[in-house]
Amino acid sequence: MVPPPFILIKGINHEKLNLYRTRAAVVEKISSEKIRRKELIMAVNSQQTTDREAMGKIIDRYPPERRYILAIMQDLQKQFNYLPKEALQMTAEHVNAPMTVIFSMATFYKAFSLVPKGRVVLKTCDGTACHIKGSNIIIDEVYKILGIKPGETTPDGEFSLETVNCLGACALAPVLLANDRVYPKVTPAALREIIKEHRGQSDE
Ligand code: FES
Repeated sequence: MVPPPFILIKGINHEKLNLYRTRAAVVEKISSEKIRRKELIMAVNSQQTTDREAMGKIIDRYPPERRYILAIMQDLQKQFNYLPKEALQMTAEHVNAPMTVIFSMATFYKAFSLVPKGRVVLKTCDGTACHIKGSNIIIDEVYKILGIKPGETTPDGEFSLETVNCLGACALAPVLLANDRVYPKVTPAALREIIKEHRGQSDE
């Protein structure tokens, strides 16, 4: 609501006029905040619908049998970078299995995550050989560059950091994995290049 133009007219109570203007400004602010909130809710709802459709498509690719649970989960993890709770419920319904079975499988395998992971998952090896060769320096450097510690994800959802125990390439220590790509003998300078290389790439 736009307040009327301020005109000095004899006999008008200007104090009341100013009060009216202030109230009108507050009403306008509240209205635009309500609209913004509604738009946000609509965007979230539409994203959830899109996600549900994508989950359904993945799940329906497989026959409704329990032996396909792992394959379904792998595809869901690949698509969403984690296993959304709704997707697990849909999987349970599809193969007619209790949620306890689905959850125990989802938590048993390290390849699955129940929380969203970054588009690029950095895995720093912290096994004995890599530790001796300075994996802790790499972990500290990731924190300096991206502000995340092991188990965390950047707010923009681009990078996650994890530590693993021995990748079986001790001669190349310290070793870093960025998604499925192996980087040997990583130094802080090399790490900066690796992050630069992966940042902004829409797909691996
Ligand atoms: S300890 Fe890192 S690869 Fe073996």
